[in-house]
Amino acid sequence: MADAAGFSGFYHLIELDTVGSTSDEARRLARAGATAGTLIVARTQTAGHGRLGRSWISPPGNLYFSLLLRPGCPVSQAPQLTFVASAALADALASVLPAERTIACKWPNDVLVGGRKIAGILLESEADGSGMLDALVIGIGVNIASHPPEEAVMYVATSVHAEGAIAETAGSVLARFCRLFETAYGEWQENGFEPVRAAWLGRAHRLGRPVAVGVEDGTVAGVFVGLDPSGGMVLEEGGRRRSILAGDVLASAD
Ligand code: BTN
Repeated sequence: MADAAGFSGFYHLIELDTVGSTSDEARRLARAGATAGTLIVARTQTAGHGRLGRSWISPPGNLYFSLLLRPGCPVSQAPQLTFVASAALADALASVLPAERTIACKWPNDVLVGGRKIAGILLESEADGSGMLDALVIGIGVNIASHPPEEAVMYVATSVHAEGAIAETAGSVLARFCRLFETAYGEWQENGFEPVRAAWLGRAHRLGRPVAVGVEDGTVAGVFVGLDPSGGMVLEEGGRRRSILAGDVLASAD
């Protein structure tokens, strides 16, 4: 599926045919001492999952992978890596899709093309008990050859092929992502969150526009004005600003 020659020495590629979840497998390997850069990719998953325990339907033809990192940073900085990954993934998709497509990062962890979800990112971390990250697993699913029908998902979806890049495969998109991610991760380690935040905001879905966000106890609304230093979504309403740390940006009519 993936051409191992296309990956730098940072990555240790493990290719599987079928697995429950590449992220569960990466976490299992992390606990067993696997090194940073371990990259699990599978042709299909039988128990793929997304945020908030939702399932991630995983037929052959799409891309499913999880990357193990050991960034050695405080747990509080872990969410920043969602933005590193989603900006790199958006850039990778922009490099293969027709130039007229609009690729956007939807807070906190999706990539959209023309307002439709093409990829989702799931971050799972293991702390070492002292507030530092022991391991972080970034799990990514990208619709390459197919996407779920509208009635099966919360947010209308699309795929790389449906958007016109029919020559691309799971392996080719993975290789592009890995090149861009390695650079972006290195920059984050060297320069911190600020450049990442700027890059992500450069592609942010509905920045400067009203949004409704489903949160644990209801819905909050406001104009999306930025990201706070820990990656929270900053909303402004009636001259007041507040940060949302977890939630789902709901589909908008306009
Ligand atoms: C989301 O949109 O909620 C995130 C979806 C993440 C799905 C990917 S597929 C590869 C990896 N393995 C999983 O079980 N989940 C992630």
